[in-house]
Amino acid sequence: NVFPLAARLRNQSMKTEGGSETAKRNAGKRAAKEVTDGSVVGLGTGSTAAYAIEAIGRAVDDGLDVQGIPTSFQSRQLALEVGIPLTSLDAVDGVDLAIDGADQVRDDPSPNAETDANATTANSNGDGTLIKGGGGAHAREKLVAAAADRFVVVADPSKLVPELDRSVPVEILPAAHTTVAERVRELGGEPTLRDAERKDGPVVTDNGNLVLDVAFGPIDSPAELAPTLAAIPGVVEHGLFIGLADATYVGTADGVEKRT
Ligand code: 5RP
Repeated sequence: NVFPLAARLRNQSMKTEGGSETAKRNAGKRAAKEVTDGSVVGLGTGSTAAYAIEAIGRAVDDGLDVQGIPTSFQSRQLALEVGIPLTSLDAVDGVDLAIDGADQVRDDPSPNAETDANATTANSNGDGTLIKGGGGAHAREKLVAAAADRFVVVADPSKLVPELDRSVPVEILPAAHTTVAERVRELGGEPTLRDAERKDGPVVTDNGNLVLDVAFGPIDSPAELAPTLAAIPGVVEHGLFIGLADATYVGTADGVEKRT
């Protein structure tokens, strides 16, 4: 395979989700079309963002001039693999566009939403509130998304939900895992320290921290929960993204739907 890391990500995601690969690919490829010549682009993490990174890599092969800012070790490796020149937040004046996946997107799916191969039609059912951090990369992902002039989410339809109800990933300083766990319990959450699948120990993020996945059940008011979580001493960053997304490209089997 030309892109071994891309292939591995795809295999992993097919195993875990039964494969919505066409939808993910359509979303990723459509978002990559937003990248303009001479721009700085935030490169998200995960199997859907990987399709965007691959498509940007192909555009670079065809002469597109772009600089990428990876949001994780994984997206950095993939960007190197597909030939995207890299830079960092502190070396640029700004970020033009960030493209990233999500674990949940708050949205009210409309039955008559238009599906359009070029996704020019925007439906305004969602507010783009997100849960991210399934890959534990949400701290840098949020940093890059917040720095970008435009932040575009790429997702397959399974990510759209009327109410966020997935566990919220909370990156924490290692020394704070018991104290943060206690505070989130007081807020009604049930924390679980994220474990590495094949290792006897916790997942360590790219920043050397740990992740608590905190189950709150349905989250009525993510905009209120977000600052409360952020204010807990020892919390580095949490996976609630409020008011950051400008658009979501939802891939389907035969096209892409653009939602705002
Ligand atoms: C990583 C993330 C990912 O973007 C999120 O988990 C979605 O991944 P995928 O596209 O593989 O479903 O937030 O921290």
